Amino acid sequence: MPRILVTGGAGYIGSITTHYLLRRGYDVVVIDDLSRGHRENVPAERLHVARLQDTGAVAELLAGVDAVVHFAAFIAVGESTREPEMYFSNNVGGSLSLLEAMARADVRRLVFSSTAAVYGDPVSVPIPETARIAPVSPYGESKAMVERVLGELDRYRGLRGVALRYFNACGAEPEAGLGEAHDPETHLIPLLFRAAVTGEPIQIFGDNYPTSDGTCTRDYIHVGDLAEAHVVALEHLMGGGGSGAFNVGTGKGLTVMEVLRAVEEVTGKRVPYRIAGRREGDPTELVADSSKLRKTLGWEPRRSKIHEITRDAWAYHTSKVKS
Ligand code: UFG
Repeated sequence: MPRILVTGGAGYIGSITTHYLLRRGYDVVVIDDLSRGHRENVPAERLHVARLQDTGAVAELLAGVDAVVHFAAFIAVGESTREPEMYFSNNVGGSLSLLEAMARADVRRLVFSSTAAVYGDPVSVPIPETARIAPVSPYGESKAMVERVLGELDRYRGLRGVALRYFNACGAEPEAGLGEAHDPETHLIPLLFRAAVTGEPIQIFGDNYPTSDGTCTRDYIHVGDLAEAHVVALEHLMGGGGSGAFNVGTGKGLTVMEVLRAVEEVTGKRVPYRIAGRREGDPTELVADSSKLRKTLGWEPRRSKIHEITRDAWAYHTSKVKS
């Protein structure tokens, strides 16, 4: 079976994708510096703790590798506005180190974690991949920069790169003990659970947006469906397929209040909330046009109904609280 290097494989989406790849029989090696990831998310014999800038370690791990799936990055939009240098250094600098090492090792296939944040505040929704790239945060910019580098390396190095632009990743793989555990947590669904459990109200960032109930609309995609998108992207590259960028979302938007209600139903608890001001940089609506991924790579979301997402996320959440 092909040998795959997964960077950032101890993180949320990286660990679940690693789990999927192992289940499919791929020979997986993980590199993670554990600055944000969790050691227990990866089988010990597969994990190498190092930074991507550690070119010696990366070169060693790349020996005999057929393709790389590159997750390692910082992901918090708000933090990126406070620490932009750290975001460019880690997300762009780390990617460049990896890409240089890949060129030296003659590894020419890469699946790259990108984001809907490359579109910034979109002109219209659903957003196709051909929409304007206009990020509004250092985080989004760092991902857009790496995508552009990949375009150049496709041309001048024959590197085949697939960028997957995730919309709102959520849900969990509770049977595998894997799910979302950021510190500090900024994402909606874990914060709704926290409010449900502690009785401490969650702040809803704005209720005067031009949507059905005034709260922002997002496209929530189950992490299992996201992991599956990486597997099909990898298979596409292994089969000789070309480079490209693909949105990964369901094409259906939900408001913050709709997600809150789903969490109430699944947990059987009331979620206390209070309306706060708008959060800077939040677009009104982010919904994917994911027809390119469906048509070209045959991917379909299978687990992204909001009740399934919240059920799996809740199962993971409660298992962590107990353990
Ligand atoms: N929200 C609240 N209260 C909270 C947290 C979130 O009302 O305490 C709202 C946000 O305003 C937003 C929605 O819930 O409308 C979802 O917020 P998240 O922080 O969970 O996710 P974002 O949509 O802000 O961010 C996601 C990804 C980022 C990516 C971004 C693209 O997590 O990595 O989409 O814009 F960059």
